[in-house]
Amino acid sequence: MKITVVGAGAVGATCADNIARKELCDTLVLLDIKEGVAEGKAMDMMQTATLLGFDTNIIGSTNDYSKTAGTDVAVITSGIPRKPGMTREELIGINAGIVKSVTENLLKHSPDVIIVVISNPMDTMTYLALKSSGLPKSRIIGMGGILDSSRFKYFLSTAMGVTATDLQAVVVGGHGDTTMIPLARLATYQGTSVANYLDADTLKKVVADTMVGGATLTGLLGTSAWYAPGAAGAALVESIVRDEQKLFTCCVYLEGEYGQSDICIGVPVVIGRNGVEKIIDYKLNEEEQAAFNKSAEAVRSMNSALDNL
Ligand code: 2OP
Repeated sequence: MKITVVGAGAVGATCADNIARKELCDTLVLLDIKEGVAEGKAMDMMQTATLLGFDTNIIGSTNDYSKTAGTDVAVITSGIPRKPGMTREELIGINAGIVKSVTENLLKHSPDVIIVVISNPMDTMTYLALKSSGLPKSRIIGMGGILDSSRFKYFLSTAMGVTATDLQAVVVGGHGDTTMIPLARLATYQGTSVANYLDADTLKKVVADTMVGGATLTGLLGTSAWYAPGAAGAALVESIVRDEQKLFTCCVYLEGEYGQSDICIGVPVVIGRNGVEKIIDYKLNEEEQAAFNKSAEAVRSMNSALDNL
């Protein structure tokens, strides 16, 4: 098994680190355009192998895609990250060109690759990667909802004073501060509704905190977060390479599901060795479906910016 992570910045390197620790492949390529950075980070990670006990061989590459040949799963993290006060959407002009050329280069050497997109604005970058590559929709997966759902569980766990691993909670819709939809109605603490434990105002605040979860971290860190985004990317890759068939919210191409077509947006998806195995219908109520439609409208309007680039 061979995995490539494109972009050796904080998110890409953290994702690669998680992939190596989990031993998801024999060969892991970390690629970046900045001279020496990927080689340096790969070597640094390799020097943790005997300490952490993993066998994965990590190879760094400065923009040499021949090293990625035969990749089974690739993660694209390249592009400029958010700065404080910036929305994910403001990155579109620069990141679109980068994601398009990275996708083309990957496919030249690995025609059967499954691609996970993390670069922002993620929903639009996933749509762009799909449209520009012509790959089947099962092989392009955007990472957003899995991260946002993890943040939702974190905020719920702190508000409830319980361990996050006992919680089930899902965020669907776009991966944007105003487009994501934490599904509070469906959130449970070991099968019982979280509404049994939190009053309506607290639950509302948890939802609001989740929606700006990334922006809060950008404000604190001065750049985009990396631990949770990197771990979320690796969890997605793990479900593919180990054929775990796990259910995550992922940004995938819809053809009528959830009432939407010709768009990539976050919905619950079973992820396995073929990439997207199945889209699950959560049977949203009227209010949730209206929020989903509004989110789709915003994502679609961002996608239309691609036409002017
Ligand atoms: C985040 O939400 C990087 O979009 C990513 O932190």
